[in-house]
Formats: sequence, structure tokens, C-alpha cells
Amino acid sequence: MTPIVESFFDPRTATVTHVVHGGPGSPCAIIDPVLDFDMASGRRRTESADRVAAFIQAQGLRVDWLLETHAHADHLSAAPYLKEKLGGRIAIGSHIRDVQRIFGGVFNAEPAFTADGSQFDVLFEDGATFGIGAMDAEVLHVPGHTPACVAFRIGDALFVGDTLFMPDVGTARCDFPGGDAATLFRSIRRLLDLPDATRVFVCHDYPPAGRGPAWETTVAEQRRANIHVKDGISEADFVTMRTARDRTLDLPALLVPSVQVNMRAGHLPPPESNGVRYLKIPVDRL
Ligand SMILES: [Fe+2]
Repeated sequence: MTPIVESFFDPRTATVTHVVHGGPGSPCAIIDPVLDFDMASGRRRTESADRVAAFIQAQGLRVDWLLETHAHADHLSAAPYLKEKLGGRIAIGSHIRDVQRIFGGVFNAEPAFTADGSQFDVLFEDGATFGIGAMDAEVLHVPGHTPACVAFRIGDALFVGDTLFMPDVGTARCDFPGGDAATLFRSIRRLLDLPDATRVFVCHDYPPAGRGPAWETTVAEQRRANIHVKDGISEADFVTMRTARDRTLDLPALLVPSVQVNMRAGHLPPPESNGVRYLKIPVDRL
């Protein structure tokens, strides 16, 4: 089965949102939708999400699922906005509870915030299966970047979230709370055990000089050419490289707002007594 994948690249956050469908008028899933956020003003905008919605409406697609590969640290999720506009259920890996526990602590979340995943419509365990119309989908728990990361296999298409990037970019960082390089290596090898012809869709792209943004490759190409995890690279070599590289990386510009919103399934914290909703900045903590 070969689903059709329409992808939308957001240059501000280097995020790719994918719409997986079976043709005009079919059911679909939206993977990792972006809500635009301006840190300086604290304002949200919906241009990126509206592009996705316009495509879905033009194609007459029915949204069954809004799938999150993990609680992103570099953009706010547009899943609640698109759910209200188009329908569908918001789903994420069940280990989101671990992420909620960690970041609920970091941000000293309000007492009503529960680290039980109940903010999402569906929590997927490793190996869970679900349908998008006639298309069969499978969930693979692939921790390492975060404890809750999942990949989605839909027909011959694999949506890898923040595990693998394009072969010339490599892999995702592992230095966020709960991240672990050896765990990521094992998760990636599990993905690379899938058939060679599997189409691999990445969730971000940070194109090196000389090429534009790209998001589709294959298992065979990753095994042959991924600069961090191609065949022949050992777990120990990967961990050494990944750990050294992570020490050089700045935190994503939108980590502080993104995590607070995404651990709530894309919702803001409740309003304070003046009716305004606030996001916190922990000082000297991250
Ligand atoms: Fe991420």
C-alpha cells in the first residue's frame, strides 16, 4: 500500500508537517502540525496551519487523526486548532506521561495539570495499530531524543519524527531531559531494519548549504549514507559523536513556550485571575 503524502515545510522552525491520505475525498492523518508563535510578542498565528487546512479542504479529505511524533521543543502544535476546524483525534505515544512528569516539574505546572496523558484523545503503546480509512498504520516507540518519541508506519511510508534526519544531516539531539544517545541509536537501528524500499519522511530539515529543504528518503539510503548512523557505525562511536555534538548546540529558540504548550496537547495553561494566559520562563534551570 502506497499512501499519498503531501508535505508542508515551515522555514521558521525547519519543521515538516505531513498529510497522509489515499486521494481526493479520502480519510487522512495530519502529522506534526505547526502553530506559528512570535516569542517577542507572545502572539500565536495560524498561517502555517491554515495552509494545511486549505489543502485538506480543497482535496475534500476527512481528518481522522492528528498525530504527534513527540512533544516538540521547537514549535507549538496546531493540533487543537486543526481539530476544532476539521475534526479528528489527537494522538501521541503513551510515554508522553514521562515527559509531562519531567516538564511539569521544570515549569511547576498548576495543580490541575496531571501527568497522565489525559490531555490527548489517544495514547499509543509500542506496536499499536490503527486505521486511516483503508490504510493500516503501526506505532513504533523510538525513544532517545525524548522518552516519548514514536514513529508511524503507514503502508510503505515511515514517519520518523526526531530520530533520523536527511542522510546529509544525520540524527536528532539527545540532550533534552530524558534523552539518551545509546537509546536513540537502538531506536534508529530498529527503524533501519524495515524493508530497504520503505519511504522515510523526516520531521525537520536543516539543509546544508547547496540544497533546499527536503524530507523524503528511504531506509536503503539512510543505511548507505546517513552521516551519523549508516551501516558500519557502532553504538559506541555514535554515542561519542552525539554526546560531543550535543554539547555544542544551543537550546531551540522556542523550547520554553513549545514544551509548556505541547505537554498540554497543544493547549495553553489556564487563564490567571485577570483572564490572561501566561507561559513561564524558568530562570537558571534549563
Ligand atoms: Fe524534537
